[in-house]
Amino acid sequence: MVSYKVPVIAGDGIGPEVIAEGKKVIQAAQEVYNFDVEWIDMPFSADHYVRTGETISESSLKELSKYRAIFLGSIGDDKKVKPGVLEKGILLTMRFYYDQYVNLRPVKLMEGVETPLKGKTAADIDFYVVRENTEDFYVGIGGRCKKGASKQELEVIRQMYSVKFGLDVETDSDEIAYQLGVVSKEGAKRIIEYSFDLANSRPKKHLSSVDKANVLTDIYGFWREVFTETAAKYPAVKTDFNYVDAVTMWFVKNPEFFDVVVSPNMFGDIITDLGAMIQGGLGLAPGGNINPKGTSMFEPMGGSAPKYKGLNKVNPIATIWAGAMLLEHLGEKQAAAGIVDAIEQNLKEKKVRTYDLGGSAGTSDVGTDIARIVKQQGRK
Ligand code: IPM
Ligand code: MN
Repeated sequence: MVSYKVPVIAGDGIGPEVIAEGKKVIQAAQEVYNFDVEWIDMPFSADHYVRTGETISESSLKELSKYRAIFLGSIGDDKKVKPGVLEKGILLTMRFYYDQYVNLRPVKLMEGVETPLKGKTAADIDFYVVRENTEDFYVGIGGRCKKGASKQELEVIRQMYSVKFGLDVETDSDEIAYQLGVVSKEGAKRIIEYSFDLANSRPKKHLSSVDKANVLTDIYGFWREVFTETAAKYPAVKTDFNYVDAVTMWFVKNPEFFDVVVSPNMFGDIITDLGAMIQGGLGLAPGGNINPKGTSMFEPMGGSAPKYKGLNKVNPIATIWAGAMLLEHLGEKQAAAGIVDAIEQNLKEKKVRTYDLGGSAGTSDVGTDIARIVKQQGRK
């Protein structure tokens, strides 16, 4: 029997509750698909930070790099720690440290779930967003200049303004903040190749690129060049370019147009919240932070929602689905498919569901129901 060791970071807010259901369903899958998972619980969270001052240390990062996949609940609690500290200190640190350059986010409307898009059905909403996860405006290059900034800092800003906009700004009388976006050739190439491979493996073989090359001409003009170069190697895949503003419109108007969508980091962040809504809500949206050759990390897309903590109220399906993605990544394809089928069955039955889907069941009831279906279907 194959055995896996998987670190778990349950995190903050509803994280521990939804992770418990994710583990419960994987436990059920172990019983029918014959593999074993040993969970290694990790403490990183707001409480841990308040207690120890540690977000996640270099030695913990190193320790976790021995594993192929991490199961993550949710990080952040604004009441305990200032926003940004844990998001950057834990979540983004891990994405960057493990070079998880793929953020894979399925946008799939399951049967039995209502979409806010009038007239659209499960047949219309079934695509992937592949979000670049290590570059763009997330690289953390930026700064602020206040009155009293050093001469050197002010000179950099003055030059930037004068070169870019022909403006001669009185920088020592203003406050300025700036943040830079970066697209590298290798960075763009690897995510675009990953997306072409994914599109090529699907029946529609259609890849849509997202950018804002009409305004941010340097970074996204470059992105388009790399996309075009890569496309030449995949003659079977149909392609198109989309500006990010337009893509939000098409997600709503014609979601059936999309098959695989590749996007730079920040636009990918934004359009996947929209994607989550058209598939029925954040409670149903999983994501994988993937380094195909390293340590990957699977998580529900939604936040930690501290106000729901401990109420046994929120929908655990995004986390259970993320657990299926984790198993698929580890090579347990049948078990992964079994879990996704069981989620679909639970949603079709419309009996055991949480408040966001109009039901009154608790978080743990939904996990228990999906675990039951996994066992039932697996034994058929
Ligand atoms: C996400 C989140 C994160 C992001 C935040 C919490 C840093 O919004 O996973 O989409 O911006 O990537
Ligand atoms: Mn987001």
